[in-house]
Amino acid sequence: MYNSPSAVDLSKPITLRKLKNMRDQGEKITMLTCYDASFAALMDAAGVDCLLVGDSLGMVIQGNDDTLPVTIEDMIYHTRIVANIVKRAWVIADMPFGSYTSKVDAFENAKKLMQAGAKMVKVEGGEWLLPIVKFLTERGIPVCAHLGLTPQSVHQIGGYRIQAKDADDQAKLLKDAQDLEAAGATMLVLELMPSAPAQQVTDALQIPTIGIGAGNDTSGQVLVIYDIINLYPGKKARFVKNYLAGKDNISDAIADYVIEVKSGAFPGAEHSYE
Ligand code: KIV
Repeated sequence: MYNSPSAVDLSKPITLRKLKNMRDQGEKITMLTCYDASFAALMDAAGVDCLLVGDSLGMVIQGNDDTLPVTIEDMIYHTRIVANIVKRAWVIADMPFGSYTSKVDAFENAKKLMQAGAKMVKVEGGEWLLPIVKFLTERGIPVCAHLGLTPQSVHQIGGYRIQAKDADDQAKLLKDAQDLEAAGATMLVLELMPSAPAQQVTDALQIPTIGIGAGNDTSGQVLVIYDIINLYPGKKARFVKNYLAGKDNISDAIADYVIEVKSGAFPGAEHSYE
């Protein structure tokens, strides 16, 4: 079915309802990180469903070692640029480190991202976040939660390590996911974990799950754009695929990513953890 970009319906803007329908009907959701106007235009034309203005920009744009130095002003700047270009994709903005530790700060900062054009904000964490997710969603701000490897806590976690490997951690992951959904989250990113716990969470929830290094059983996939065009130096993570290989332009690489996620070809076992 999804063997060409033209199989994606480009005629109507993506909504939260549409994303939920895609999840319910088993249509895989495609997401890429996006930080600027040129990539936003290419991704929108290729039918990428969701563009994540990720705080990974702290690493791939700003050259920092992690996402912690990214400020709310940085996120507003990049969100506005991306949202101004996009006609179809659902634009999600990361709330940066330290910008959502109280309900009031979370609302004030989320408001700025929504006013810059985001349709949803993303926050990292489990139990401690429940009142904040409830506070934001009750005030009309759609929230994407993020569990597993949460890069803003990298120093607490002790590095970029695979999460949810044992039964206790998997039970905690499932409980956090269910509680976040009950608190009002309408999407959940699952990062860097074996396929089985990601599948268990996906099956237990009614909202879409989006995996990165979390196997092929989530409702959709996200990757950092620079990783799929081989632009980020250093050792590649197992879950990354270079879609530019064998192609001579970035549009074709993005289109191939959309086809492979929609068809279920990506991620394969070679990109997943057991
Ligand atoms: O900032 C980001 O790029 C992210 C993805 C890794 C999901 O949060």
